[in-house]
Amino acid sequence: MPMLIDTIDDQTARAACARQGNRPDGLIEILHDIQASAGFVSDAAIATLADALNLSRAEVLGVVSFYHDFKRQPGARHVLKLCRAEACQAAGGDAAAAEIERRLGALGVTEGDEPALEIRSVYCLGNCALSPAALLDETPIGRIDADRLMSELVAREIVEAEPQ
Ligand code: FES
Repeated sequence: MPMLIDTIDDQTARAACARQGNRPDGLIEILHDIQASAGFVSDAAIATLADALNLSRAEVLGVVSFYHDFKRQPGARHVLKLCRAEACQAAGGDAAAAEIERRLGALGVTEGDEPALEIRSVYCLGNCALSPAALLDETPIGRIDADRLMSELVAREIVEAEPQ
């Protein structure tokens, strides 16, 4: 029997709201908390947040959809952000990004139902002095090239070493 979304109380979202005192101005922190715990912000979480914070679902969804870091679907556990803005382009970032995408694609880690890694293009990470720049989960990496990024991914056991 299908369950109506209105009847679902998302316990992860409820607990995250409680940690912020059910304050609407804590919405961003609450969303980060939910995503860190559940990996994404579900419809049930949005309904629970609206109820706990006395906001409309549209208000909650508006914030979730405004910030690209919040996921609405389960996805990869690791995110590699590659800067494609001007300073990084000038330092060879586009070529590095193309090569890393090619090598990871060949390993099959960026595709499939539950990929190990998602690659996103971003436009300035605030690390222009070390361009081309990347951000692997929360770790900034400067002066990237494909070999350096692959070594980092292997060291963190996100991918296996490429066959020789
Ligand atoms: S342009 Fe790439 S970090 Fe600023």
